[in-house]
Amino acid sequence: MPKPLGISLDPTHDEPLYRQLFDQIVARIQSGTFPARYRLPPTRELAQELATHRNTVVRGYEELEAAGFVVSTVGRGTFVADQPRPAAVEVPGELGALPWASLTSRALQAEPLGRSERLGVGAGRSDTIMLSGMQPSPDLLPDELFRRCLDHAMRTQRAKALAYAPREGVPRLREAVARDLARQGIPASADDVGITTGSQQALDLVVRALVNPGDPVLANETTYAGALNLLSVGGARIIGVPSDDEGPDLGAIERHGRVGAKLLYLMPNCQNPTGSRISQERREGLVAWSHAAGVPLVEDDYASDLHLESEPPATSLRALDGEVIYLGTYSKKLIPALRIGYVLCPRALRPAIWQLKHTLDLGTSALLQHALAEFLERGYLEPHLTAARAEYRCRRDALEDALRRYLPRGVRWKRPETAVVLWIPAPPGFDVLALHAEAQRAGVLVSPSFLCEVGGTERHGLRLSFLSEPPERLAEGARRLGRAWAAVERRARVRTVPQRVEVI
Ligand SMILES: Cc1ncc(COP(=O)(O)O)c(C=O)c1O
Repeated sequence: MPKPLGISLDPTHDEPLYRQLFDQIVARIQSGTFPARYRLPPTRELAQELATHRNTVVRGYEELEAAGFVVSTVGRGTFVADQPRPAAVEVPGELGALPWASLTSRALQAEPLGRSERLGVGAGRSDTIMLSGMQPSPDLLPDELFRRCLDHAMRTQRAKALAYAPREGVPRLREAVARDLARQGIPASADDVGITTGSQQALDLVVRALVNPGDPVLANETTYAGALNLLSVGGARIIGVPSDDEGPDLGAIERHGRVGAKLLYLMPNCQNPTGSRISQERREGLVAWSHAAGVPLVEDDYASDLHLESEPPATSLRALDGEVIYLGTYSKKLIPALRIGYVLCPRALRPAIWQLKHTLDLGTSALLQHALAEFLERGYLEPHLTAARAEYRCRRDALEDALRRYLPRGVRWKRPETAVVLWIPAPPGFDVLALHAEAQRAGVLVSPSFLCEVGGTERHGLRLSFLSEPPERLAEGARRLGRAWAAVERRARVRTVPQRVEVI
């Protein structure tokens, strides 16, 4: 009597029975329980043992054979195939290391790249609260809906979804993105849209297409750290532009623009890190300047669709002017792991951008593009956004309430209009880096302006975000931050002028 194999099939499971059989036999082959040339039981016998139909076992064996795990010979039976043995790997060490320090490129020495390491970011406690996180918390990621779309993409596209994608993106996703942009008031046809691996890559492509080492590039004095890093690696000479309540100062831009700037990088709807927005009038001024000076505007709309007020933001720069280079992403409003962003660029620049895209990564994952297109075509995005925005309003309110309660009196900030960042300008003379270190020891991570300053002379402050933590942890984070703030003040005897707590 042959020994039972200990395999059990569950008819209530999502996976069909023959696939359950497949998985369990593969697991036994991998673990060595079924060694090479082990004879699997005849199909009729195994079907009897598992109380299942013989066809289930036949199909399971056929799939095992197609995948190369077993070999069947008519009249002899089904045997575990010989598995290639991994060769023993020895680490050669006798020849010593090459001179890597002198081999690495100058780009790697760009100063902004080393900033987070110099800060020691990430070396905190295990229960650290992330007021620095720029991605939605897991409970806000629509994992089940996305899984259905991924399954559907595999079932309907089959092997097509597993090939390289066209360099400018899968056509149905380009169409879906163009419709999504039209909903937001940004005119685009599928031909205008280029799919990228995150909007970080979109910015990289634009910088590579336009900037030579040493070229001046304009950006806000305090700007997105990821853009600073990219521009520095590309050898750009980054010039920080000061801002007022309306947006970047046009006078300063005009002066700096005369030095032959290659582009002006902006986040008009939610500046990272300050959360500020550019007024409608200033947007029009920027577009007029761009044409007069011959300098393109790069509009990074990374937080699109995450506005929390009923008033939508002012007209996008791209909607005002088709020469604007527009960058967008599904990382913040949907799922960061998709790594799917997009770029709208003027017709004249497209061939260069597509060529570079192909050169850099041979295209963004076709499988994920099909799955995202399915998600958008099924209309899953808008209800997701409605629910996410409601949650972000709660999170913003919880964070603000707790900040009012725990931060020293006189600390002021602007109420966030978009669900991403809350910026706290530091009182004059206050040591933001000391606060960052003290807060990390107290179990809360925040982003000091040091990470995102162009030149180090700008207004210092602190960026908090409320994407990544639920309301109760945001409140606890604010409590820890308040204690750290008080400790830094005590130590440095910084004297802030006492004022009423006020939200400006
Ligand atoms: C302002 C800004 N732009 C672009 C990005 C890049 O996002 P992704 O590459 O995930 O689309 C980020 C990420 O944090 C960001 O903050």
